[in-house]
Amino acid sequence: MKIGELAAQYILELGPLYDGNEAKTLFNMAAEKVLAISSGKLIMQKDLDISFIDLQKLLSILNDLQIGKPIQHILAEAHFYGLVFNVNENVLIPRPETEELVDWIISVCHKQFSADSSALPEKLSILDIGTGSGCIPITLKKHLPNAAVSTLDISAEAIAVAKQNASQIGTEINFIEADILTFTSEEKFDVIVSNPPYIRDLEKADMHHNVLMHEPHLALFVSDQNPLLFYSAIADFAKTNLKPKGQLYFEINEYLGKETIEMLTDKGFVNIELRQDMQVKDRMVRAEIR
Ligand SMILES: C[S@@+](CC[C@H](N)C(=O)[O-])C[C@H]1O[C@@H](n2cnc3c(N)ncnc32)[C@H](O)[C@@H]1O
Repeated sequence: MKIGELAAQYILELGPLYDGNEAKTLFNMAAEKVLAISSGKLIMQKDLDISFIDLQKLLSILNDLQIGKPIQHILAEAHFYGLVFNVNENVLIPRPETEELVDWIISVCHKQFSADSSALPEKLSILDIGTGSGCIPITLKKHLPNAAVSTLDISAEAIAVAKQNASQIGTEINFIEADILTFTSEEKFDVIVSNPPYIRDLEKADMHHNVLMHEPHLALFVSDQNPLLFYSAIADFAKTNLKPKGQLYFEINEYLGKETIEMLTDKGFVNIELRQDMQVKDRMVRAEIR
């Protein structure tokens, strides 16, 4: 079978789950991994015959996609801010909006401390809450190499994945297994960041079947009654554990920007800024402690 023919089969058979563009992207990701041909070059190779072994692999990926498995779980990797992370069913697949949050932190830290990341002070310390794959702390450490970066998660399984990623990417991170709702520490940080669970049970109905079936609910959901549970607990922690003028960054539920700002204002945070993501949804908040 030729590359172009298999691409057409993907688009046809994934029709019930994905539109044509999505199916094409999925084929490109699968083919790039199995055939080691960059997606940009696939179109020029569409008449190339696929070997029997590679065809079996690509058909098996198509089968997994048809039962709704995310491509990142099938390939066991996800791309984030130019880095490749191992992922499995115990961690959230890193999202593009989280890349935007990380980009915001890196640019503020570079501006505040130096135009040159290598000149950052040794003492810049960062805590990420809700490690998942480790995409936030590992990317921050990669771009702010002189920072001391810690990260915390309640899930031992998630921490295992993140540790593997930190070691593969060559970053030194301090991992803490703990529940942020009860965690206390004497340590003070310059930056605290979190992308905590924020999807209300009532929003489940609007979610893609893929996410509901295959991503860890521990990473995603909060009750309708107390949707800011984690934000409020993390803000309280930040009040005691940020250095003066320290910064708090959150990825937020697009529907709860106003409520998140009110909660931070009530707790005494200043210079609160809400940002939208590339899809023009309220998605990130930055605040400072006096
Ligand atoms: C939305 S995911 C974010 C993962 C990763 N930071 C990312 O952006 O892809 C939230 C993470 O918070 C963790 N988590 C959930 N409840 C927690 C708790 N009580 N204490 C600490 N971490 C918790 C989950 O295990 C999950 O890894």
